[in-house]
Amino acid sequence: MRTDVKKPLPTAHGSGAEEKQGTAAHGSGAERRTGADENVVVADERSSGGRHSELLERHRAVMPTWLSLFYEQPIEIVSGSGRHVTDGEGRTYLDFFAGILTNMLGYDVPEVRDAIKEQADRGVLHTSTLYLLRQQVDLAEKIAALSGIEGAKVFFTNSGTEANETALMLTTAYRRSNQVIALRNSYHGRAFATVGVTGNRGWGVSSLSPVQVTYAQSGYRYRSSFAGLDDGAYVDACVHDLRELIDTTTAGDVACLIAEPVQGVGGFAVPPDGLLGAYAEVLAEYGILFVSDEVQTGWGRTGESFWGIGSSGVVPDAMTFAKGLGNGAAIGGVVARPELMDCLQGQSVSTFGGNPLSTAAANATLDYVLHHDLQTRAATIGRVLLEGLRAQIGDLPIVGEVRGKGLMIGVELVHAGSTDPDPAAAARALETCRERGLLVGKGGLYGNCLRIAPPLTLTEGEAAEGLAVLVDTLASVDAG
Ligand SMILES: Cc1ncc(COP(=O)(O)O)c(C=O)c1O
Repeated sequence: MRTDVKKPLPTAHGSGAEEKQGTAAHGSGAERRTGADENVVVADERSSGGRHSELLERHRAVMPTWLSLFYEQPIEIVSGSGRHVTDGEGRTYLDFFAGILTNMLGYDVPEVRDAIKEQADRGVLHTSTLYLLRQQVDLAEKIAALSGIEGAKVFFTNSGTEANETALMLTTAYRRSNQVIALRNSYHGRAFATVGVTGNRGWGVSSLSPVQVTYAQSGYRYRSSFAGLDDGAYVDACVHDLRELIDTTTAGDVACLIAEPVQGVGGFAVPPDGLLGAYAEVLAEYGILFVSDEVQTGWGRTGESFWGIGSSGVVPDAMTFAKGLGNGAAIGGVVARPELMDCLQGQSVSTFGGNPLSTAAANATLDYVLHHDLQTRAATIGRVLLEGLRAQIGDLPIVGEVRGKGLMIGVELVHAGSTDPDPAAAARALETCRERGLLVGKGGLYGNCLRIAPPLTLTEGEAAEGLAVLVDTLASVDAG
């Protein structure tokens, strides 16, 4: 959904206060401030490289080993502006990963900062859902209207994991069934039920689960048993498999299917058009509910539609969301059909879910997305990046596939001349991009995919700048 109120965005290389940190170049000037006073870095500290090493040592001593960090020498990001961030040693980067898609508008956005400040200035950061929360109701009304779900109701959480836990709780309670269908190569969160529906061994930290899960074929065609089929044949094969899976591996009364319209952690795997729509038809026959996990794909990021599932022409029974909504403030939630949302018999509460600070940030962020029509921007700039990458690095022997939609673009790296995943090449590319002033993400089933997901406000100039770094980087990684 779009509104007709449009405001200008920064042009080519950006303008105004939000551009104060310059370009992706490494920002090596001794005069550069990095943000809050304690983070002002002087040249000596930068050259010693001590700030990051010292923090890393402390991090390793007190944080879990399974909490992984990017880069051989992990960095601390201490300030940001527009699409740029600066690290603790004074290097500035163009950010093509946006804090795992959370900083949807970029950094230091006045509208969001003012909304948070206004709430903080009232002296109340939190009251709880025991009291009416105006910002929460405002936000719920907007999301319900944008969802396309008739009579939709909304419940707010603090994260995507909690949002999906809630959706699983609702659908299993509504259907009085603990059976769930998830997709292979999926990621839905880090808690008990969400790990249970995560179809990626790298993130499947436990086989114990409160739900009984079967895994259908996903849109990750590159490594599917049906790879090589054209779109129509692929969809037919997957649908046939789904029917067989329901008939042979479930008791029939499955609660829901949960799916990411574009698999995020799974390496930005995009299903062929029609797959999820065809799945929805099968589910309807069996009375199985459809949950679309929009944690990464929501808010217009895929360009084609406001929710990722919109491209399939499906209005799901529930959608979950998080990540970009607060532009960095912690917020997630579920929007669902009213009878599904209201089906719980007992009481339930999230103490911090939908708190005044997060909902203030989220209202400001969502308004910004709509007023600036960032969905169209994601489509336009995303096309430039996708086509640019396909044209300039698509034929490199180490590039297995370049895929994506809008500002979600994945580059799958393989051992030259094969489809064998090459996670080491992805790690080298991540590192080289950083050295050249560009932050990108990494993921995929084997950790061999680069993930490109900049803020939706990315300018054409910044897209060209980042594209050039990616092309050079991949050419050098390919050359060994
Ligand atoms: C599709 C999807 N769902 C759920 C989650 C979990 O969200 P969170 O990390 O906020 O709990 C993620 C996180 O990456 C995600 O990508």
